Amino acid sequence: MVIRVLGIETSCDETAIGIVEDGRIVRSNTVASSLTLHAPYGGVIPDIAARAHVEAVWMVLAQALTEAEQTLDSIDAIAVTQGPGLPGALLIGMAFAKGLALSLERPLVPVDHLAAHLYAGEMTEATLEPPYVGLVVSGGHTLLCIVHSDNRYERLGDTKDDAVGEAFDKVAKLLGLGYPGGPIIDRLSVEGNPKSISFPRAHTKGTFDFSFSGLKTAVYTYVTRTLKAAPPQRATESANASHPLPPPSLEPEQIANIAASFQETAVEALVTKTLRACQRTGLRRIVVGGGVASNRRLRSRFAELAAPHKLDVVFPPPALCVDNGAMIAGLACSLLQQGLTAPLSIATAPNQCLGVAA
Ligand code: KG4
Ligand code: ZN
Repeated sequence: MVIRVLGIETSCDETAIGIVEDGRIVRSNTVASSLTLHAPYGGVIPDIAARAHVEAVWMVLAQALTEAEQTLDSIDAIAVTQGPGLPGALLIGMAFAKGLALSLERPLVPVDHLAAHLYAGEMTEATLEPPYVGLVVSGGHTLLCIVHSDNRYERLGDTKDDAVGEAFDKVAKLLGLGYPGGPIIDRLSVEGNPKSISFPRAHTKGTFDFSFSGLKTAVYTYVTRTLKAAPPQRATESANASHPLPPPSLEPEQIANIAASFQETAVEALVTKTLRACQRTGLRRIVVGGGVASNRRLRSRFAELAAPHKLDVVFPPPALCVDNGAMIAGLACSLLQQGLTAPLSIATAPNQCLGVAA
């Protein structure tokens, strides 16, 4: 008999609902993003995100059911992101999920957002099962772990400061590239030389931890120095006090070189530590999940370095890398089979990490 789960994800700025059968077959994966509302601020504004979830969630539900050609009656369980995430945003998804579970008399399955990002790998490659090494790279987290089962994780390391996606976003903001910066830096880097600037790697040797704030500061220092050294623009206008000079700006080629060099340094840290985790654990399979897993250089560098060691690296397709409801529904199916449902009194857990309170 088919087990059909509806998964609700509202941990950040995506209002997402997916319908998945037997843990791996995606019937629908609908996402409404409030991204454009946050773009003017250069980052997600929690109150705006929560309000946008309230406004979008019914429409997203209707679309997810239509795309899957299902009615609510045919859903066996309701899954929802319990955490980590923005407190207000999580509450909207949780309240909505509880309402559905109560009215439909279906079990409620709480799901860890980071665990679901990794489970997306199992939805991608049909034969993949734990154990494997998991790397979560997103706007809020950078985390390396061993996935022993779909409910048991061993943390190897995480970021000591900024998440890698956050670093991409902040560097893009510094370069005046817009928000979210990750996909823009990814695109621009193709035009730049990744070896043109040598940015420092963080000193986290001997651990599986990451640090990206030093790299971000190094980019800031480089940009400030370059601008200071830039020749004054439009010297002919300088005499006219009513038309002050525009501030010096970087040339497009310089911006592409900075983006490519930053990306190369960040990617190298992620790939090196992950391969070392395989060496240490003896595991030969890796899943990379989260928004930054869409990054093309990250994918190609993993492919280059993993092949000689005969390691299998699974990257979910972009629709399963961004925050989405299908990954929540998929993992919930496995949790449901393990009897891991929750009472309607369950609370959200904004600070949890892989199911454990931080
Ligand atoms: O997993 P996600 O959708 O949301 C969180 O849980 O945070 O990740 C969003 C992050 C953002 O920081 C965004 O800039 C980054 O993923 N991102 C990328 C790319 N696409 C999205 N970073 C680098 N390269 C990309 N292609
Ligand atoms: Zn995420």
